[in-house]
Amino acid sequence: MKHFRTLLDLSEHEILTVLARAHQLKQLRGTASHPTPLARRSVAVVFEKASTRTRISFELGIHELGATPVMLDAARTQMGRGEPLEDTARLLGRYVDAVVYRTFEHTRIETMASEANVPVINGLSDDYHPCQILADLMTVQESGRELRGTKVCWVGDGNNVAHSWILAAGAMGMDLRLACPPGYEPDASIVKRGQSLDAGRIMVTHDVAAAAEGADVVTTDVWASMGQEEEAQKRKAAFASFQVDDSCMSRAAQDAIFLHCLPAHRGEEVTADVIDGAQSRVWDEAENRLHAQKALLEHLLQPSSADAAVESSPPATQRTAP
Ligand code: CP
Ligand code: NVA
Repeated sequence: MKHFRTLLDLSEHEILTVLARAHQLKQLRGTASHPTPLARRSVAVVFEKASTRTRISFELGIHELGATPVMLDAARTQMGRGEPLEDTARLLGRYVDAVVYRTFEHTRIETMASEANVPVINGLSDDYHPCQILADLMTVQESGRELRGTKVCWVGDGNNVAHSWILAAGAMGMDLRLACPPGYEPDASIVKRGQSLDAGRIMVTHDVAAAAEGADVVTTDVWASMGQEEEAQKRKAAFASFQVDDSCMSRAAQDAIFLHCLPAHRGEEVTADVIDGAQSRVWDEAENRLHAQKALLEHLLQPSSADAAVESSPPATQRTAP
């Protein structure tokens, strides 16, 4: 069974295949030729944290592929009253064909994947945000660049989105420089993992100007992520000089693009001039969540010929026939 817990659940070839399909689905959206390969299937989308883009893009995307979305705020389910994650996962696996899950500790994604018995997609955990990076890679391709060799500059917190960029850089052969305040660097083991995939392409520094020099893509994220609200004041002081502004963009390539997963705080991690300026691609990036996730769902849920042979064999004990 295929999951999408981190970018590394897909090979470089699979990521490129999903991205190519995402571009096609973008073209086909709203036309009579748009496919509905997931007819009669269903996908649960479970949130333990707030969301705007992930919620809308998955609900619409699942529907557009012909499947039924089941949107759940965990706090309003029995999970909110203490029903164990493992029991919820087993139950979801009996009802739906896949689960998208947004949560806190990354181990909860792993538990969902091991217990649900259906493909699980990480809709953001404290450690990773792989769906975001699929959309970001698609947006980089739309700027006319090959992923391999693209120079990416990350400014700010070494957080979940940064971690997914690190794995993407290693997997896809991009050059990634991360400028983070001291004490807020990405997890060293994730940096090592990314570097082990493609040695020498990932560098962590405290120098924003050096990281931005010649970059094709400049990207950042909030200074305090969901779950870190109590640290917000302390972080404001530590991150004060880690802002994407005109001076930072002027060090990047002339045709560099600016990306941000959103929501953004203008005047903190990015100036209004940059995020609302000519180099910003943040609205394409947000839209591309829809197309990239549709291609991902199709990839994870359409049986390969080997899986199809297994599925046509005598009924398994896991699910009762409708
Ligand atoms: N970028 C992103 O995941 O946005 P939401 O938190 O609104 O889903
Ligand atoms: N790093 C942010 C991303 C939000 C989409 C967070 O985890 O809150």
